[in-house]
Amino acid sequence: MKEFSLGNKKIPAGKRTRRDFLIYAVGSSLTTVAIAYLFPKPSQSREVDLETLCSLYPQNSRCQNYLPGVKAQDTDGKIIQADTLLAIATPGIPIAVKGLPNDSVDYLIIKDGPQIAEYAINPICTHLGCTVEWHLEKNHFICPCHGSQYDSLGRVVHGPAKRSLPLITVVVKQNQVRLVETKPAIDPR
Ligand code: FES
Repeated sequence: MKEFSLGNKKIPAGKRTRRDFLIYAVGSSLTTVAIAYLFPKPSQSREVDLETLCSLYPQNSRCQNYLPGVKAQDTDGKIIQADTLLAIATPGIPIAVKGLPNDSVDYLIIKDGPQIAEYAINPICTHLGCTVEWHLEKNHFICPCHGSQYDSLGRVVHGPAKRSLPLITVVVKQNQVRLVETKPAIDPR
């Protein structure tokens, strides 16, 4: 008689119950998903590798034609050109941008030069997760929930928060400003 396996058990075909069959089917599906996750197709893994490599090392020779992340937009949803932005940017004053999922806002950092820094501030308060906003007149990010304040690089200047604001990666290339939703390789603070 034909059998099929359920864990260590061998079950004759005639004695299968509907429940056994469902367990067998779910188990097979999970195994297939796990194998696909652990051993992605060559093209998929190359794509993931390039995304990581070109986020961390955008000038690498393999990244010449690869732009990681997504295009940064201004708060009205217009795509930002790096040269246009730099023409009006002031070093030390963060610039709100969009582009990452959920319409979230991040803040580009403008360094002396002016230059767009390789990182941007993700304005999620490290106390309890409220969204902080940049207050130009105070030159600080201020949390509306319990009053934490951060300087223009996201470092705490007033509690209750104890840790700096999180960062995301920024790649400026081919006159584009690209936002990558991962931490930069080095936190410069
Ligand atoms: S959540 Fe920002 S200070 Fe509490």
